[in-house]
Amino acid sequence: MKQKTILITWGIGYIWSHAVIAFEQTWYKTVIIDNLDNSCLSTYRNIWEILWYKPDFYEVDLRNKEKLEEVFKKYSFDWVLHFAWLKAVWESCEKPLHYFDNNLVGSLRLFELMQSYNVKNIIFSSSATVYDSNRSIPTFPPKGERSFNWFSENDLTWNTSNPYGTTKFLIENILNDLSKFASFNVINLRYFNPIWAHPSWLIWENPDGLPNNLSPFIMKVASWELPYLNVFWDDYETIDGSWVRDYIDVVDLIDWHLKAYELLENLDFSGFIDNFNLWTGKWVSVFEMIQESKNATWKDIPFKIAPRRNWDLASVYCNPSKSKNILEWTAKTSLQDSLKNAWKFYNK
Ligand code: UD1
Repeated sequence: MKQKTILITWGIGYIWSHAVIAFEQTWYKTVIIDNLDNSCLSTYRNIWEILWYKPDFYEVDLRNKEKLEEVFKKYSFDWVLHFAWLKAVWESCEKPLHYFDNNLVGSLRLFELMQSYNVKNIIFSSSATVYDSNRSIPTFPPKGERSFNWFSENDLTWNTSNPYGTTKFLIENILNDLSKFASFNVINLRYFNPIWAHPSWLIWENPDGLPNNLSPFIMKVASWELPYLNVFWDDYETIDGSWVRDYIDVVDLIDWHLKAYELLENLDFSGFIDNFNLWTGKWVSVFEMIQESKNATWKDIPFKIAPRRNWDLASVYCNPSKSKNILEWTAKTSLQDSLKNAWKFYNK
């Protein structure tokens, strides 16, 4: 069987480097594009160390169509895994145009070349932020109810809470039209809170400076790099007053992309589009995350109650049954295992 070649945009980032490893280990050839603005070459060296060889890498900004086209000329891509975006929600609120320029213009240049070079299969890494942010304002789940599911794929997508979310929403819509009018086959994978490290402990989420997201923040507090965690408010109508999320292990998340590609690969028509929520279906509150992290690290996690961040959504979680039924996928890694794995890394 011919080895398939995948273009992976922003393949040196935290989640996407996991994708490169998983796809290479499943006998795909990956070609990485990254402008290194938000990632560093040491991650590429770590990918190399894990695989024992170097996947092809080009330092290209997606907005630079000429340079991007040089890569398209060199390879015959079977499909594209499109990750390229900036993803810090607070930064997108401060610099919305910067986000639109990077995420949207970059995507347009990519889609133009895909069309010119007849590469029609794409998996887009989308987000639960595409769902109507007003709908998440009731602070569900109601106290004590564990089984309540919130967003499902048929729910309305619009009214995003920040420019980062708007770029996801717009790209999904552009892809929707490209499937209708340009025969693209598209899968939008909507996820929210990917966490933790690669089992090799060579790749992990370790942002410079103060992390924005809960998981790396907690690990930095547990390892005494930071003195305490701010819990962004504790009086919501949830099980313990803090907001809930669905945290998914990054390795599980990437496995899901492999399943999604199998679906695209077996199509016997073009113009396909579908959306999937990639969540575990098990939600956890911020206080529960603190307790789980204490159990995993055997460290104290001091915290203080702080005001809500203005872009924060209320509790967000979803019904994962569509992915389970169609992609035949469920999350395998427990939260405790993810946390223990991450801690081994931070404790190294
Ligand atoms: C945000 C994005 C999401 C993106 C994810 C990972 C929105 C609305 N959300 O999710 O699309 O995939 O980042 O980049 O666009 N918290 C604290 N203290 C902290 C940090 C967080 O209490 O120091 C709380 C937050 O209030 C929230 C939960 O922990 O309830 C998770 O926050 P975070 O990890 O930042 O992710 P989201 O905001 O859920």
